[in-house]
Amino acid sequence: MTDRPRDLSGIFEAERSAEIVAASFDGAPDPRLREILASLVRHAHAFVKEVGLTGEEWAEGIRFLTATGRRCDATRQEFILLSDVLGVSMLVESLNNPADGRCTESTVEGPFHLVDSPERELGDAIGEGGEPCLVTGRVTDTSGAPVAGARVDVWQADADGFYDVQRPGEVPDRNLRGLFTADGDGEFRFRTVVPRHYPIPTDGPVGALLRATGRHANRAAHIHLQVSAPGVRTLTTHLFADDSPYLDSDAVFGVKASLIRTFARVDDPGRAAEYGLPNPFRHVDFPVTVRREPGM
Ligand code: BEZ
Ligand code: FE
Repeated sequence: MTDRPRDLSGIFEAERSAEIVAASFDGAPDPRLREILASLVRHAHAFVKEVGLTGEEWAEGIRFLTATGRRCDATRQEFILLSDVLGVSMLVESLNNPADGRCTESTVEGPFHLVDSPERELGDAIGEGGEPCLVTGRVTDTSGAPVAGARVDVWQADADGFYDVQRPGEVPDRNLRGLFTADGDGEFRFRTVVPRHYPIPTDGPVGALLRATGRHANRAAHIHLQVSAPGVRTLTTHLFADDSPYLDSDAVFGVKASLIRTFARVDDPGRAAEYGLPNPFRHVDFPVTVRREPGM
């Protein structure tokens, strides 16, 4: 009997660690899963080597991720918040919805969207308690044709910087939320209050991370919009107020320059009466361009 040379190339060596571990996925039947895991391993190993990670530092990282998982439940998703403050949510969003110069740009959805926003009539008020504001807009496709009957789902924080779900019992149910149906010309309008900047939740591990690194937790003032229609790619975006602080340091990197608008001051008793608003009020117009997609 002769001893055959044995292949020991899979034995762990720090110098070739990424190559060895990535190869352990070579048999994965799903090629995309194989690609993602191999790349994840290469980048993770490069990170450990680049910073010379100590055992205690890795243990601290594991403790942090464990605490992050423990803060997740049916209403709180701390891992998404972590992805948000690391800019990964915005990167995935931007890569999958690249700006094409024609469609309205997208941004993160965030954790405060409700799947069952209250249906409202065009021109309705979605909430109270701040500087009165009229929002108007028109949904068109990239050829300029109106998207009649488009659904425009809107939600925002109140004048103190809180979403309704953060103050249960203190504010009306579904305050500052509304689901509108655009008219035959794709136009929509609603009454609201001028949004205020606000902090993302900081009572969990992500808040501790921000404090430990001297980062603030604020998002620039914005109104969320999700625009959908049959045959159209759903757009999830924000409308940002140009007089808000934090436009250039948004805690989740959600600001895109093309989404910043002036909330103009209007002093016109006739128009105020027409829209059912006190005078003066503020007005912002936000035309929305969406992409038609066959089969959607
Ligand atoms: C928001 O805009 O509602 C939001 C987005 C990301 C993290 C937290 C809040
Ligand atoms: Fe928000």
